[in-house]
Amino acid sequence: AHIQIINGPNLNLLGKRQPEIYGAETLADVEANCAALAQELGLEVSFFQSNHEGAIIECIHAARENAQGIVINPAAYTHTSVAILDALNAFDGAVIEVHISNVHKRESFRHHSYVSGRADAVIAGLGTEGYQAALRRMVTLTAG
Ligand code: DQA
Repeated sequence: AHIQIINGPNLNLLGKRQPEIYGAETLADVEANCAALAQELGLEVSFFQSNHEGAIIECIHAARENAQGIVINPAAYTHTSVAILDALNAFDGAVIEVHISNVHKRESFRHHSYVSGRADAVIAGLGTEGYQAALRRMVTLTAG
């Protein structure tokens, strides 16, 4: 199966941005770890990061044609974007929402997610290992 991994705004600064919350690994580290694990799991992965809501939506539209699963960390758009929810609702495959931090332990505005109602699974607080946990689950979700 082909899995599209999507990271939203400010995640290009991973490793440099509030490392006490998000850890020391960079986005390039996360992507390299995911690529290695995907190979082990027999999945094909593609990576996309954008600070622009519309670009994320267009990536989800493209996934309608070329992916069986989406792993998405919508970052701050999690808490604001009906448009990303609508795009995910137009995607027929599996969806896993990932947050590096435990959003439920943080400010109350991070407790609500527009995306969770569409997601097959929600991962929060596993640090950057959450992406790998999502890929492992994708094997089952995209089987058959
Ligand atoms: C985040 C949590 C969001 O609340 C925040 O806006 C982010 C990252 C996380 O991975 O923990 O940018 O999605």
